Amino acid sequence: MPIRICLAGATGWAGSALARGIAQTDDLLLVTAVSRTHAGKVLGDVLAEPRLSCPVYATVQEALNNHTCDVYFDYTKPDVAKTNSLAALQHGAHVVIGTSGLTDSDYADLAQAAEQSQLGVLAVGNFAITVVLLQKFAEMAARHIPQWEIIDYAHDDKKDAPSGTARELSARLSKIRSSELTVPLEQTQGIVETRGARINGSQVHSIRLPGYTISVEILFGLPGQTLSLRHDSGSSAHPYVGGGLLAIRKVSSFVGLRRGLDIVLDLV
Ligand SMILES: NC(=O)c1ccc[n+]([C@@H]2O[C@H](COP(=O)([O-])OP(=O)(O)OC[C@H]3O[C@@H](n4cnc5c(N)ncnc54)[C@H](OP(=O)(O)O)[C@@H]3O)[C@@H](O)[C@H]2O)c1
Repeated sequence: MPIRICLAGATGWAGSALARGIAQTDDLLLVTAVSRTHAGKVLGDVLAEPRLSCPVYATVQEALNNHTCDVYFDYTKPDVAKTNSLAALQHGAHVVIGTSGLTDSDYADLAQAAEQSQLGVLAVGNFAITVVLLQKFAEMAARHIPQWEIIDYAHDDKKDAPSGTARELSARLSKIRSSELTVPLEQTQGIVETRGARINGSQVHSIRLPGYTISVEILFGLPGQTLSLRHDSGSSAHPYVGGGLLAIRKVSSFVGLRRGLDIVLDLV
């Protein structure tokens, strides 16, 4: 039996690439999709992919009321992703969240709902294998270097800040330690906001400018030496497809909330 999937955001930049990726597999089946603009249509007609014969609905509730799904995948917007995911858990589906911008409080609520439903929720700020590796390298560095700062770069019209990748990186590093500050923020002379936002024990700076795609950089400093780890995304959504497919296949293997693709890779 293939894994039956509901994909919200199936007509978007990331979701349409994932939908096409699902169409090429034998073990995954997209049974329903969500997009307000294309509600009432067949997804394959919208994406010019005849293998995608599932109907598109305007809301997740409608999609899940009409189709039984094993996994719900969210690639929408941060203001609706949590509500969508809670609805999916109530319908008995495991959840993969690719949407960025959810807060730690959102994740706490989702963790509780997942435990109550005895289902898995896998939230991945970035499905690209190169970002997963950056996260692991940063964790290694943070064990040896107590001071770092994170910079998140994105196109000027990206509304959420910091990026999901930067949030996830800070959350991961907080499990190792908080970045030390030689001068505490409250002792900053001048404008304290220029030191960035304190998130999960890291200073995070978000740049939003035309000409940028999506990048994340973490700078480590020790007296007389620095280390920079940087990831740059290209303009294609292709790097996120393989990780998304893997997340769909693995999310039913645990109960509760897990964050990061390395949980289901052999990198932990
Ligand atoms: N984790 C990762 O590796 C990764 C990779 C790429 C992107 N992302 C994140 O994924 C999210 C989507 O990115 P994108 O670039 O694909 O955005 P996008 O191109 O704007 O697509 C958004 C999709 O969500 C749908 N949507 C938006 N609001 C909705 C709502 N209220 N209810 C139902 N559907 C809604 C849109 O269709 P309608 O407007 O027709 O409803 C569209 O299909 C962002 O948060 C982005 O940061 C994560």
